[in-house]
Parts: sequence; structure tokens; C-alpha cells
Amino acid sequence: MKEYNYRVSAAGRINIIGEHVDYCGGKVMPAALSLKNTVYIRPNGTNQINLSWTTLPDKVTLDMDKLESYSGLKYGNYQAGAALMWQRAGHKLLGCDMLQDCTVPFGSGLSSSAAIEVSTIAALATLAGEPLDKVEIALKAQQAEREYAGVNCGIMDQYASACGKKDSVMLLDCNTLECEYLPLTLGDYSLVITNCKKPHNLIESKYNERREETDRALNMLRQRLDIGSLSELSMAQYKTCSASLPPVLRKRVEHVVTECERVRVAALALRAGKMEMLGRLLNLSHASLRDNYEVTGKEPDALAEAAQTQSCCLGSRLIGGGFGGCTISLVKTKSVDEFKEFVYNTYLKVTGYRAEFYDTEISDGIEIEKL
Ligand code: GLA
Repeated sequence: MKEYNYRVSAAGRINIIGEHVDYCGGKVMPAALSLKNTVYIRPNGTNQINLSWTTLPDKVTLDMDKLESYSGLKYGNYQAGAALMWQRAGHKLLGCDMLQDCTVPFGSGLSSSAAIEVSTIAALATLAGEPLDKVEIALKAQQAEREYAGVNCGIMDQYASACGKKDSVMLLDCNTLECEYLPLTLGDYSLVITNCKKPHNLIESKYNERREETDRALNMLRQRLDIGSLSELSMAQYKTCSASLPPVLRKRVEHVVTECERVRVAALALRAGKMEMLGRLLNLSHASLRDNYEVTGKEPDALAEAAQTQSCCLGSRLIGGGFGGCTISLVKTKSVDEFKEFVYNTYLKVTGYRAEFYDTEISDGIEIEKL
């Protein structure tokens, strides 16, 4: 890739715990992965962004004067949205060629879209010689996902993709964007990431509907309580006012309240090296996503259940938006191979899908190299 000036990458992510609470102002615990979207970039002296991919024959040209017109493109949609939001925020764009190389599996719940948006903006800023403000990049990337790609997401994915740190999880407060980094020390245990291989799409999979339900619940609760977001609701407050909510909204709020509490306890467990406790919290999180938030589905449930039956596995849960995608499981390191074999076979028998496992590490978010 000598002919390019910079190599700029941003990470996919996992989330240890804190699912579907980022847009409710809760704390989440994501970590950036060594699965990444990498952009090779060079100036081309035109008014265009030329996109190409290492894995596709397609080539796409984006005219920088009409970036708003590419929404819905099969390839290039996320890059166009990211460039547009960066431009609208007053940043200078230089015409350029961008070769994109994505190792985050698409539709897997590991945030390939955030990795593409964040790396695209970071590459544009690098080429223009701007100092990088990773949080601003994350916020503009989130805006692209919401306003251009049409998924009304929270900030977790883009923040993790931009600001992740090697071997650390982030304890990110999505209300204030305060972020604490905790070393991911799992003792004799490892995290196994497993894709259920059922294709998912956040929009089709009712992500926006869940978000709208939590907004509605918040509005109803605010008639009785002085809260700014659902994450501020205590368990005691929830108990006293849950009867005032329609049954579906009650379940959604119960998920948010209990998941926020699980994040709090998980941070204590991680700090104290209490792996059994962390594992139990993963199982409880999955159960709540299944029963209260209703974002799992047959395949993710089968995958998590197969994992949870194994004594070498302390806990397993679906991560990301849901309705497909990946689970994470906390597994005794020396038993990982048998664990994978068991889960693969059991899951295949139950669902007919071939689960996929990823060997990946916890890594930095944005990385830049001058070529
Ligand atoms: C998707 C969204 C995130 C978050 C998760 C669920 O990944 O992009 O903002 O809401 O779902 O926790």
C-alpha cells in the first residue's frame, strides 16, 4: 500500500455488559477489537472521494458537493454519511482516494458500521492535517448512523470504535461521556465471541422501535418523577411506579433498570477478579434481553443456552443490537477448544446454522500510521 499516504483504522467492538441502555443514559462496558475497518488514503486533487474495497470489485465516487445524495447506496453509504457530517461540522475535506479493508464481519453485532464511519472520518481529518479529537469523531460518526443510515443508535459503538484501549474495557457513562478504563483481567478465563450467523439488520430488527418505546416510557414516568433519563430510575422508584406503565413498556423499563444495576455490579466484579459473579451477570443480562427487552430470537437463545450448559462456561449472552449477531461467553481458558466444539455441534443440531468463532484481541480504537 506504498502508494497511499496514511493507513487509518478504527475498531469493531464487543460489549461486556450494558445492552440497550446507552440511549437511556446508562453506563456500558464495551471494548475495542483487533477486528477493524482500515482506510488507506491519499489526496487526489479533485473534488471527489473515490472509494474502493480490498474485498469487492465495486468502485464508488462521491462528489463532495452533494454528499447528502448518496444515502441508501449499497456500498459507500456509511462513508458518505460520515464525510457529510464531518463537513457539516465545519471541517475541511480534501478530495481523496480511499481503499477500504474491513475485517469486522458485517451484520454480526460487532459494529462494522461504526468502524467504517469512525475510520472514514479519522482518515479525512488525518489527510487534512487536523489534530484528532476522538470524542468529536465518535459523535459525528454517531450522527451519520442516525441521520444518514437511519438507525437511531446510542453512542456506545462509535465511542468504543474511536476511543478503545488495548487490553482495557471502557466503563462509559453515556449521559456525560465520562469514561474510565479498566484492565480486562479475567484470570483463568477467556472471552469467546461466537456468531450465530443469522443475518440481522438493526433497522429491520426493530431497534428504532425499542428506542421509541423507552422514550415513551420516559415521558410517562416524568409525569410522576423528576428524572432526565431512564438510567436515573432506581429499582425502588421502578417498583412504585411500574403499575402505571402499559405491560410492554413495563418490561422494557425493567430491562433498563436491572441492566444498569448489572453494569454497576459487573464493574465491581471485574475490579475484584470475581469471575463467577461476572458470569452470572452475563446470564442474567441475556435472560433480560430475551424476556423483557425481547431482542434475542431463536438462534441467539440457542447459542447462549448451549454455552450456558457447559460447566467451563461461567456465563454467556447476546451482545449488540440483537435479533442475531454474536454472543460472548466467559470460558475457562484451558477448556476453550472443547467448549467451541460442543457449542458448534449443539447449535447446529438445534438451528441448522454453523456458528463461527472469532480469534481477536482487545485493541486500541483509532490507529494511524504514516506510510
Ligand atoms: C447497537 C447500537 C448501540 C447500542 C446497542 C445495544 O449496537 O448501535 O448504540 O444501543 O445496539 O446496546
